[in-house]
Amino acid sequence: MDVSIIGTGYVGLVTGVCLASLGINVLCCDRDEDKIKALKNGILPIYEPYLGKLMENCLRKNERLDFTSDTKQAVSHSNIIFIAVNTPTVDNKCDVENVFDVAKTIGIEMEGYKLVVNKSTVPVGTVRQMKELIRSLLYQRGKNDLEFDVVSNPEFLREGSAVDDFINPDRIIIGADSERAVDLLKQVYASQISLGVPVLVTGPESAELAKYASNAFLATKISFINEIANLCEQCNANVLDVALGMGMDKRIGDKFLRPGPGFGGSCFPKDTGALVGMAEKLGTELSIVRAVIESNKKHKEKMVSKICKAAEIKEKSTVTVLGLSFKPDTDDIRESPAIAIISGLLGKKAGVKAYDPMAMDNFRKFLPHLDVTYCTDVLSACTRSHCIVLVTEWEQFSKLDFKQLKKVVEKPVFVDLRNVYDPAYVRSMGFKYEGVGVK
Ligand code: UGA
Repeated sequence: MDVSIIGTGYVGLVTGVCLASLGINVLCCDRDEDKIKALKNGILPIYEPYLGKLMENCLRKNERLDFTSDTKQAVSHSNIIFIAVNTPTVDNKCDVENVFDVAKTIGIEMEGYKLVVNKSTVPVGTVRQMKELIRSLLYQRGKNDLEFDVVSNPEFLREGSAVDDFINPDRIIIGADSERAVDLLKQVYASQISLGVPVLVTGPESAELAKYASNAFLATKISFINEIANLCEQCNANVLDVALGMGMDKRIGDKFLRPGPGFGGSCFPKDTGALVGMAEKLGTELSIVRAVIESNKKHKEKMVSKICKAAEIKEKSTVTVLGLSFKPDTDDIRESPAIAIISGLLGKKAGVKAYDPMAMDNFRKFLPHLDVTYCTDVLSACTRSHCIVLVTEWEQFSKLDFKQLKKVVEKPVFVDLRNVYDPAYVRSMGFKYEGVGVK
């Protein structure tokens, strides 16, 4: 079976490499020629656990996985074409230009049946519009007899565990109008289906909305527990116990109830904004999602006040930020809480030293205006610091040597924005401890 994947961003690359490793012949395409050159040489543009190894295996065997910057070639290579191009959100509006560009090329180039599988996150109704566009292009070419299907197949990959999420997802959603399309896509996902992964077949609009609704609901859970954490701090309750108590109710579930510095990443902030914008356009108010966006913004600001209060930060105080990526096991810094926190601290004229195992290059490159001293390790980042702030819960930050840190800091204050540590333990090591919703 042959599959083409257009767009080698996060989703496209994981999809392509995983499908190739499951035995499908995959041609990945991206208009960025430098990226394609690097990929052909086995160089990944992102850090994602296991992805490099899988890609290396596929490339070494010189089979099943290839790359091209020629979209026309990708269209002719296979009758199954995945679209996984980026759809940025600007002013609460999802920009679908890239998706329609690909649909246009398909409509202009196709010479036989095509199944177009859209994985890009798009507003409801986009799949239907793509269909209309391809149909009109075929009509212009006098080729209305060529058959095709366009389906929605949203992705639910989490950065940091995307390979596992692809191989063994909670569900596969296929939003399609045609049985032929559903059957063909089920063949692509035969490995997952044989593992017992459920497949939900819906209309295209429901599949498109299921993606946004899932992300918005998860973001709501996080903001909800973050607000409860704030309340806990005012009434001597412990948010970890509260979350446990809530999560034991099967109707609520224990996932995504970890308080922290606020959600970040390329998805929740973008998709909640786009969902609100989409609903507004359709004359519906999503007041809960709107409140979540506002709550998350305020929560990040609150983290700056928390740090300043805990360490009595003054002009020229030095704050150490441990973790810059929006979550561990990724070098992605998009909408990372670290950005709002560092900006807030610099605004208060504090000095900021930072260390992250993977994301420092991206921070330097994309946020050159932030005056941060990047350090090579935890110890140098903490030397002469007035406050250590754990922002991203990288595994290596869960085993800090507080005895050693105590010797190098100016002031022993530890703000644990991920509640990684037992407060009593950190205090016993001579540090003032501040978590999120814990005493
Ligand atoms: C999210 C969804 O979880 C995926 O299902 C979806 O496919 C993806 O967006 C997407 O739309 O592409 P991702 O952004 O990679 O995945 O990361 P998450 O693990 O969901 O974390 C998002 C943010 O929420 C992070 O900043 C994380 O630290 C925060 N978070 C998560 C919490 O603060 N508390 C929690 O309990 C869970």
